[in-house]
Amino acid sequence: MSKTATLEIEGKKYEFPISVGTENEMSIDISKLRDLSGAITMDQGYKNTGACKSEITFLDGEEGILHYRGYSIEELAAKGNFLEVSYLLIFGELPTASQLQSFETDIRKYTLVNEEMKNIIDGFPKTAHPMGVLASLTSALTAFNPKAVDPNNKEELYTAVCKTMGKFLVIATWTYRKTMGYPLNYYDNTLGYVENFMNLMFKLPTEPYKANPVITQALDKLFILHADHEQNCSTSTVRMVGSSHAGLFASISAGVSALWGPLHGGANQAVLEMLEEINANGGDAAKYMDKAKDKNDPFRLMGFGHRVYKNFDPRAKIIKVAADEVLGTLGVNDPILDIAKKLEALALSDEYFVSRKLYPNVDFYSGIIYRALGIPTDMFTVMFAIGRLPGWIAQWKEMRENKEPIGRPRQIYTGSPLRSFVEVDKR
Ligand code: ACO
Repeated sequence: MSKTATLEIEGKKYEFPISVGTENEMSIDISKLRDLSGAITMDQGYKNTGACKSEITFLDGEEGILHYRGYSIEELAAKGNFLEVSYLLIFGELPTASQLQSFETDIRKYTLVNEEMKNIIDGFPKTAHPMGVLASLTSALTAFNPKAVDPNNKEELYTAVCKTMGKFLVIATWTYRKTMGYPLNYYDNTLGYVENFMNLMFKLPTEPYKANPVITQALDKLFILHADHEQNCSTSTVRMVGSSHAGLFASISAGVSALWGPLHGGANQAVLEMLEEINANGGDAAKYMDKAKDKNDPFRLMGFGHRVYKNFDPRAKIIKVAADEVLGTLGVNDPILDIAKKLEALALSDEYFVSRKLYPNVDFYSGIIYRALGIPTDMFTVMFAIGRLPGWIAQWKEMRENKEPIGRPRQIYTGSPLRSFVEVDKR
């Protein structure tokens, strides 16, 4: 028998169907609520609101579980590579060896970016933040690829996926090259995707360059850990923008902007800046803990807390181990890491943090690894965007394939009641 929920408003009862997901999460379908009762629900920040049904990612914040298409993040990070995880997220299954090879080859067909894009980059000041430039360049790709993708045409959709994976990586690295005043590099189709990232970023025309495999492997893992996280702020933005049938590049550009904020992906840059500040001020982690707890102080411990994870962030656990390994292998001795460990230990035994279930999130350790790998601080959030790209694509694709309606929340108006216009000389 199907389950229902009963809601009583001013003595009148309404029944709503309950649906249950694969992992027993329960939702009450209130899509008829307003028609039946005239009322809407109010849920600022969408803490209790499901916006879609999705087959892509499962996460259980209470238990610290994260699965992509049914595979645990621990297993994918240990055994998979970024392109095969991207394929899994976007197309639903792990690729066979030949599907994976074709995917890589097909992405390579679209790694050249129109040379005119360079004129657009030249219009930005060198001091522009790479995330702002990336959002603009992603949007600009629409101008060079104006044909809207038909989500019902499998071939067209596949090409759009490969194009996005290819071009986004290149323009993401160009945002850094621009800040450095270096010539913009081209993708090298003889190398792998993550190795190309390193080349695009760091290769100079004056000398040969070979990416350190320890670094490319660590980055590959980091990209996997960031690849999707169900209906977070940037992904919901991508789905929302795409629900108006805006194109893939336009939707992803909006996702980049959403990710940039310090409460979301921008936290990885904010974490490192915070750790540097603590270090510069004598390394007193306890003093900053007190600041974070002081309600009259706007300071928050960046990299702590998560909207959904109220136990621990499984990605943070994996990254913490990877950070120790990578820093050990590269022989990096970083005082910043010691401060991070001190902060973590203090927070994990502090009543304020424990009672509010505030644990280190994915961004707490990712910045430390990026720094050890030689990635500049203001590129950290761009790194997140490169990792999150397949998730955004998968979610946009699913939303269009499911023919979801345009996203359009309601509101409760709290402004002035109707009043008469007053002529300017009488105000
Ligand atoms: N430092 C100090 N106090 C905190 C922190 C923090 N980092 N995070 C939450 N709190 C406190 C709040 O002040 C609040 O306290 P109160 O109940 O006494 O008022 C309580 O914990 C609950 O916090 P909310 O802001 O209501 O929690 P929410 O789920 O809305 O926010 C968020 C989650 C935005 C991630 C928050 O924890 C935060 O700002 N963290 C720091 C930024 C950060 O690391 N963001 C990255 C998130 S991961 C990602 O996007 C990839």
